[in-house]
Amino acid sequence: MPKVVSFHALIAQEMEALDRLIRQRLGSDVALVQAVADYIIAGGGKRLRPALVLLASGACGYFGPHRLDIAAVVEFIHTATLLHDDVVDESELRRGRKTANTQFGNAASVLVGDFLYSRAFQMMLVAQDMRVMEVLATATNTIAEGEVLQLMNIRNAGISEGEYLNVIRRKTAKLFEAAAQLGAVLAKSSAEVEQGLARYGAHLGTAFQLVDDVLDYSGDSESIGKNLGDDLSEGKATLPLIFILHNGSVEQKAVVRAAIENGERGDLLQVKAALLAGGALKYAYDAAYGEAMMARESIACLPNSSFKDSLLELSDFAVERNH
Ligand code: IPE
Ligand code: IPE
Ligand code: MG
Ligand code: MG
Repeated sequence: MPKVVSFHALIAQEMEALDRLIRQRLGSDVALVQAVADYIIAGGGKRLRPALVLLASGACGYFGPHRLDIAAVVEFIHTATLLHDDVVDESELRRGRKTANTQFGNAASVLVGDFLYSRAFQMMLVAQDMRVMEVLATATNTIAEGEVLQLMNIRNAGISEGEYLNVIRRKTAKLFEAAAQLGAVLAKSSAEVEQGLARYGAHLGTAFQLVDDVLDYSGDSESIGKNLGDDLSEGKATLPLIFILHNGSVEQKAVVRAAIENGERGDLLQVKAALLAGGALKYAYDAAYGEAMMARESIACLPNSSFKDSLLELSDFAVERNH
């Protein structure tokens, strides 16, 4: 079972039903597909995005069966992006175990990622709803653009804060946006509520990735289930580094610039010291906190409910999390 986090409490039964549905729909008679898909799913994960579908649909008063199908679809799309992302990033640890690319090779990871994407598209048909398909098709396409945009900026120490935000809004926040928005689409809520939830998801996802980029330096590998320093080892300039490049001392700037341009994990200790001394992690946390506040404000239009409370709690979790 996936790790339990506090905001799951309200939807504990649905999360169990979701887990069963995910396992059921992973099936393939091609042995390697089944093996790789089972492997990554058995690693668990926080199941944040499907929880978002369930909480948002609950907040809009929709409790029909399609909420579980669409929650599973969102988790499949997320899992497909992880399989591809770990190949691209050459990552070796995910969800506390070897990445699928380390265990089965790059080719198997890429192909099973394609299987999960296409299974997600088969599954979304059950809702028989063009709006649902539109939201999911757009999100999937935007994520792909975000990952390519990021690739174009590898080892680029000249990337601006705005360009970085553009990347993370696409590669990460867009799926959070879709997940929250879909709760309203399924419930056939008003345009105001749908847009409010979409904005909530976009801000939440941005906060989530900002914190992820901090945890890549300051986290604990066992808690995050990933190796630290993955971003640096491929020359990925995230917000803490960008902050130093603009605001650090001459020495701090030089360390960070060289590390981005070399793209080596060997510089990790020096870079971490520069980030801490230069206040860069705090700066990124403040940015994440600002996004979480905007997420909260975006759902002010929703009626009060325990689901809305859990969505608010989720915005705290996105910033305070250590995993
Ligand atoms: C990992 O997402 C990818 C990012 C957007 C940082 P999660 O941290 O939600 O991954 P799992 O599903 O819990 O493993
Ligand atoms: C996560 O990107 C976004 C997607 C998978 C689309 P990252 O590369 O920053 O996430 P981690 O650190 O590998 O989880
Ligand atoms: Mg990665
Ligand atoms: Mg990361």
